[in-house]
Amino acid sequence: MTDLELFKAAKKAMHFAYAPYSNFRVGAALLTKDGKVYTGANVENSSFGATVCAERTAFVKAISEGHCEFDTIAVAASSGEAFPCGICRQFIFEFGDHIRVVVGSDEESIKSYKIDELLPHGFRL
Ligand code: THU
Repeated sequence: MTDLELFKAAKKAMHFAYAPYSNFRVGAALLTKDGKVYTGANVENSSFGATVCAERTAFVKAISEGHCEFDTIAVAASSGEAFPCGICRQFIFEFGDHIRVVVGSDEESIKSYKIDELLPHGFRL
């Protein structure tokens, strides 16, 4: 699975976003170490703090189905590029500082970063 294929899967997942408050749709596609892809979208709530980001939706789906070794997560948004928020960076970091994050505003502009580049000195208990 290439970064571009994963980004395309994230773009597709974006269409399932529930984002009536921000109208900002985000999709994520998470590649496990053994080659499976779990997708997610942002799910908003009228109590705004209860909103779940696309990245965490994808992680929770994968982990709750028995996966906890990951390779790459791609993130796509309805406008521009969407870097994972701080909470999502910490969430990703939990599963290893090797995980790569692919972002881009379109298929031509995707770039990848290691999570420890996006979250230096992430928290570990
Ligand atoms: N959002 C994500 O899904 N991922 C991020 O990393 C940043 C923000 C969502 C949350 C909310 O539904 C909308 O984008 C606007 O903040």
